[in-house]
Amino acid sequence: MGFTPDFLDEIRNRLPTSEIVGRKVRLIRKGREFSGLCPFHNEKTPSFTVNDDKAFYHCFGCGAHGDIIKFVLETEGLSFPETVERLAEQAGLQIPEYTPEDKQRSKVRKTLYDVMEAAAHWFESQLVAQVGTQGRSYIQRRGLTKDTVKTFRLGFAPRDRSALKQAMLARSEITEEMLIESGMLIKPDDGGESYDRFRERIMFPITDRQGRVVAFGGRALSANAKAKYLNSPETPLFHKGRLLYNLSGARKQAFEKGRLLVAEGYMDVIALAQAGFPEAVAPLGTAVTEDQIREMWRLAPEPMMCFDGDKAGQRAAIRVVERSLNLLKPGHSLRFVYLPEGEDPDSFVNGQGSQAFERLISEGQPLAHVLWAEMIGGVAFDTPEQRAGLEQKISMILTEIKDEKIRGYYESDFQKRLKKLFGSEFVPEINLHEQVVSRQKKENHQQSRSNRSYENKGYGNKRVEKSIGNPQKTAILQTSKISALDRKRLIILSVLEHPWLLERHEEQFAIFDFESEELDKVRNEIIRIASRDPNLERESLRRQLLENGLGQAIEIISKQGVLTAQEFIGLKSSKEETEETWLHALQLFQMEKLEQDIAILGSKEMNEEDYARLQALIEEQSQLKEQQSASLRNLSVPDGNENS
Ligand code: UTP
Ligand code: MN
Repeated sequence: MGFTPDFLDEIRNRLPTSEIVGRKVRLIRKGREFSGLCPFHNEKTPSFTVNDDKAFYHCFGCGAHGDIIKFVLETEGLSFPETVERLAEQAGLQIPEYTPEDKQRSKVRKTLYDVMEAAAHWFESQLVAQVGTQGRSYIQRRGLTKDTVKTFRLGFAPRDRSALKQAMLARSEITEEMLIESGMLIKPDDGGESYDRFRERIMFPITDRQGRVVAFGGRALSANAKAKYLNSPETPLFHKGRLLYNLSGARKQAFEKGRLLVAEGYMDVIALAQAGFPEAVAPLGTAVTEDQIREMWRLAPEPMMCFDGDKAGQRAAIRVVERSLNLLKPGHSLRFVYLPEGEDPDSFVNGQGSQAFERLISEGQPLAHVLWAEMIGGVAFDTPEQRAGLEQKISMILTEIKDEKIRGYYESDFQKRLKKLFGSEFVPEINLHEQVVSRQKKENHQQSRSNRSYENKGYGNKRVEKSIGNPQKTAILQTSKISALDRKRLIILSVLEHPWLLERHEEQFAIFDFESEELDKVRNEIIRIASRDPNLERESLRRQLLENGLGQAIEIISKQGVLTAQEFIGLKSSKEETEETWLHALQLFQMEKLEQDIAILGSKEMNEEDYARLQALIEEQSQLKEQQSASLRNLSVPDGNENS
């Protein structure tokens, strides 16, 4: 029951998007677009737009996005073939006929979803088998009940390097290729035999919104294993920056209770569920991304961050605060729950019980409070200069808030707090936001290091056109002299040399697919370290990587082509050039990969999954293109004072 891409295109070409969407949504024409109230979330002012030229709809409120096929799929409750058939009829197109053999083939063809499901099932079986003794006793030690193990489908990956591989290949419908593509097997770069990615670990299946297994997290049993947790790499099914652990499990409960708990780790989520809080999710081993924050808001208006009660956990919380500011929408915010020093939600509910945790949650602090506490923390405000400094800090933060209404409220909230802090005679009625906008215009290139985590808006201000796509640097990336693997190593090497790159581009780095276990591991560790230390310095990063047993990996990465590396990461070039080149390298790879993926998908008959995947890829591609042209635009600010 596949439909060719050409056929689907023909449907889209013949039916105006506004016509199909207009049957469900009252649309008003606005220039080249239409706008209306979004059917995918509750809203009073329209943020939903339809563009016939581009043949898609987009909601700026909830991020809903797609074409007519997706629209009908999601609003009519029809299956994919039914949707296509109905639209084809409306478009006056004949449904192409497929031979019985075609149909048979697509039935037999096992998808990656089936592979992941089979693996999850097999890991579960290993946990109860003879070989799983070690795993069972670990689970017992962590106090998990049989029910919990069943609900979360916990499993065990034996030590044998090819246990899963053999079990899976014994089934005629699963191939080695599929196992590699799904991230379950690692194929060494040197062409050696593929082997199981997860060994001697407790396995946590990670499911997508619909509860299908798309990836795994694996926890090492022994305390001195190299990585405590190992996660699936990015695959066609798994994008870790977009998913949350236990999203499908928490969804219904969260929705009903109007409450969502966000913890840092898998074990926290599981322990919370066992203690009567099934509405808990966690990011997947990286700092919380913007996509994840949006996802949380689909479930509850004020997700509660329950981060570890140590310095690192609190820093991680602040990063979420920073990341959420430009996303804030009326009725959407975050709350922060403070755990006692040294505790995580898992240890807390196990030690103190559910009621104590319930109390802790009820004391969750609103975002504005956390932001305020962070701003005034550890500083004295005795002198006029110090007070002015705080005011400036506040204005900087206010510019981060995109939503005007919310910004207004934050402004008056901070005014009040300022008055309380200084005594009212000190604070004139000023418009903090306007103040900063005009100031930024004047002195947009002298932001101090101390507030650089809030300086995103100044990004690009002071660069000149010629540093983008610097032909020399770009050429280095493209020469065939450097293998793709080396280029990937260079991407990591740049971050090792310039950890500040992560301040703005952590997300891109976090979800980049290195297609190499070794590089992925180093990257994950870097992200983990960086997510806990926003002002990470080169030395500290190196030291922490060494401490975590990645010394050898770093050495290998650093060793190859030092000269080229120097040219590439521009040890001598300016910060801007380095950043430009590095970003360009990342995007180049992403583009290449996307183009390949799209070409592969586009050349075959599609079923619903393929179609959804293709849509996602195309969307990603257009976003990437937008990013690229946006960074080009950013660069053409006239008054650049570059060392040219
Ligand atoms: P924690 O170190 O806080 O682990 O990492 P935890 O969840 O409390 O686990 P236990 O209790 O020691 O078993 C929090 C999260 O960070 C990611 C995992 O997602 C983990 O759940 N992480 C941690 C990794 O991805 N890799 C690691 O090596 C460690
Ligand atoms: Mn823990």
